[in-house]
Formats: sequence, structure tokens, C-alpha cells
Amino acid sequence: MRIFAGMSLKNDLLLRAARGEQIERYPVWLMRQAGRILPEYRKVRASLSGFKELVETPERAAEVTIQPVDLLDVDAAIIFSDILVVPEAMGLSYEMVEQKGPWFDKTIRDAHALRLIESDFDVNDRLGYVMEALKITKKELNNRVPLIGFAGAPWTIFCYMVEGKGSKTFSESRKLLYTKPEVAHELLAAITDVTIRYLHAQIDAGADLLQVFDSWAGILGKEQYSEFGLTYMKRIADAIDSRVPLTLFAKGAFHSIGELAALPCNTIGLDWTMDMAGARKVVGETRTIQGNFDPCMLYSGHAEIEKLTLNGLKSFKSKRHIVNLGHGVYPDVDPEKVKTFIKTVKNYEFSV
Ligand code: CP3
Repeated sequence: MRIFAGMSLKNDLLLRAARGEQIERYPVWLMRQAGRILPEYRKVRASLSGFKELVETPERAAEVTIQPVDLLDVDAAIIFSDILVVPEAMGLSYEMVEQKGPWFDKTIRDAHALRLIESDFDVNDRLGYVMEALKITKKELNNRVPLIGFAGAPWTIFCYMVEGKGSKTFSESRKLLYTKPEVAHELLAAITDVTIRYLHAQIDAGADLLQVFDSWAGILGKEQYSEFGLTYMKRIADAIDSRVPLTLFAKGAFHSIGELAALPCNTIGLDWTMDMAGARKVVGETRTIQGNFDPCMLYSGHAEIEKLTLNGLKSFKSKRHIVNLGHGVYPDVDPEKVKTFIKTVKNYEFSV
């Protein structure tokens, strides 16, 4: 087991920024940088039966994890996987339907269906392919940049397990909170247990930093997010030991940023709808902020991207920042535009 993650990294800016240590420039990476935009990724995927085979084949998953480090020059790699491997390990297998997204044959909508899921299993058994991919990636990265591990937040995983597919409203998932709150809590607690063990296994396999994605936090109001979201985010943050920094990204949860920042974590991710000055006031200087450029900004021309990026950087007014988009990069964005964004961040000289 490693004594101190990141000790021998050539570029450890991300980890220093997360811990609030001195940095000479802002680190930058993109959510969903592995896959989606790179033709090199599509080529690897096309050589296999599809997305799932790629996720489950550690050598190939490692290859597409490293592609953005080589091709986009980002300051971190994020392991190529998906948040949906957790519900699958718990007993709900999914398909990734081309052009449509995830599809689950079975869903959990009542106490009876809870019997379909398991939470008491060895994560290294059922999700060993992720740990193997992390180990291979770590070795092949050769300490160039930190490797980010991740999981979905319990509330977001719950959304997929109840709905069985993507949705704009996740109304079946939200309905359960009113009609069968005890079933909701039981399912959320089970997801949380598995997620904590899964994140620890990722640290043991070489992850240098962990991010928890609560992509659907914003569809709940403050009170419901407190009961069904934050309760379980807190359990995770309390349980993850301080071997590696922890980032909490709750998209749309502007009502709960203060509560999230009060949890034992290092970094709070913000989406692009959140005002940075206001968020910084709530988060304070004891946490790093990650974000929050609008992913659609990357559809602008190169000169405009440079200008918008510089304006954003100037507005941060703090060195406790990791530059990222406010959500994942969109699939049809030109990688050259991403490179302009990254170069602009890297060349920026601090004025704070
Ligand atoms: O960030 C990275 O580059 C690492 C890989 C990663 C993927 N999914 C690969 C992926 C990560 C971190 C995720 C997280 C994820 N997956 C989230 C949370 C982040 C977010 O975007 O809000 C969510 C909600 C999912 C669930 C999911 N996976 C959906 C809804 C879809 C279909 C739509 C889409 O995003 O393309 C996926 C598929 C998926 N996951 C792809 C990739 C590269 C696309 C599959 C393909 O066509 O190759």
C-alpha cells in the first residue's frame, strides 16, 4: 500500500490544488474527457462489440484513459468506466443502447424488488476489471499525471435503478421518495455501502484522487436533497480515508453547496449555472472549487474560446481552483477547440 499518494508524480498540480497547497498555475482536466470526443477512442471502441466490452477489458480501458493525456495534454487522467457498473454489480445489469443511453431490464420500485439486489459482496470480485484497469493505467502513465477514480453518488445511482433508463425528470425515482420513503432509504443505504467499498478498492488499485458524481442532485429541492442525497454523500465523505483527496460534484445543487462543502472533502465541483463569486463566499477558502465553464463555450471560435477562458480565470480570484467544465464535454465538440481551452489555462499567469 502506498504511504502518500502522488509522492512520485511528475505533475502533481491537481493533488496540490485539491489540498490547498501552493500551485504555480491552475490544473485543468475535463469531465468525460475519456471517450466521447476523440476519434482515437471511437476507433478502439469500434474494434470491440461496444461500450461495455471496452469498460470490461482492462488493457483497452487503460488505453482510452491515457489518450486524452497524450492528445489533449490535460493535467489528470480519469479512469475509463461508468457509474453504472455499481448497479450492475448489485444485480441490475444494463445495456448501453447506441444513440439512446443506458437501459435496465429490471428496476427497483417497491420493497419486493429490493430482493433483486445484493450489497454484501466482494467488490474486487465483481468489479475487479475496474481495479485491473486502474493498475494497468497507473503503470502505463508512468507517474506523468494523477489518476482519478470515481463513482456515482447514491442519489444518482438510485435514479437509474428506479427509472431503468435516462430521463429528463426521473419522476419514477422522485415518486418513490413520497410514496415509499423507507424503500428509498433502504436502497440508498445499500448503494452507499457498496460505493464506499468500491472507492476504497480504487484507492488500493492506484487512484490518486476520487470524484463522486451526483449528476441528478439538481432535480431535488433543498429539503429532499438533504434527506435523500446529502445523508449518503456524508456517509461516503466520512468513510473515505484521507489517503487521497475527495471531490464532490453535485450538478444543479446550488441550494446545498454550503452543506456539501461542510463535509470532509477537498474539492467542490460546480456546474456552469453557478456564480463563482457567490459560490466562493459559501464554500470559503478551506475547500478547492472545480469548474465551471459552460461545455457549450467550446462551440465558439478559437479566439472567442481564448477570450472567454481568460475572462473566467480572472473571475476566480482564488488559487484554490481546479479548472474544468461545468459538466462533461459534449460528444460533438472539436478536440482542437478543447486544446485551445487547455492551452489558454496552462499559459495563464496568476494575478491573485
Ligand atoms: O470522465 C471520463 O472521461 C471517464 C469516463 C466516464 C464515463 N461515464 C464514460 C462513458 C465517466 C466519469 C462517466 C460518468 C457517468 N456516466 C455519469 C456522471 C457524469 C455525468 O455526465 O453526469 C453518468 C450520469 C453516466 C451514465 C451514462 N453513461 C449515460 C447517461 C450514458 C449515455 C450518454 C452519454 O453520456 O454518452 C453513458 C455512456 C458513456 N459513459 C459513454 C462514455 C464514454 C458513451 C458511450 C459511447 O458511446 O462510447
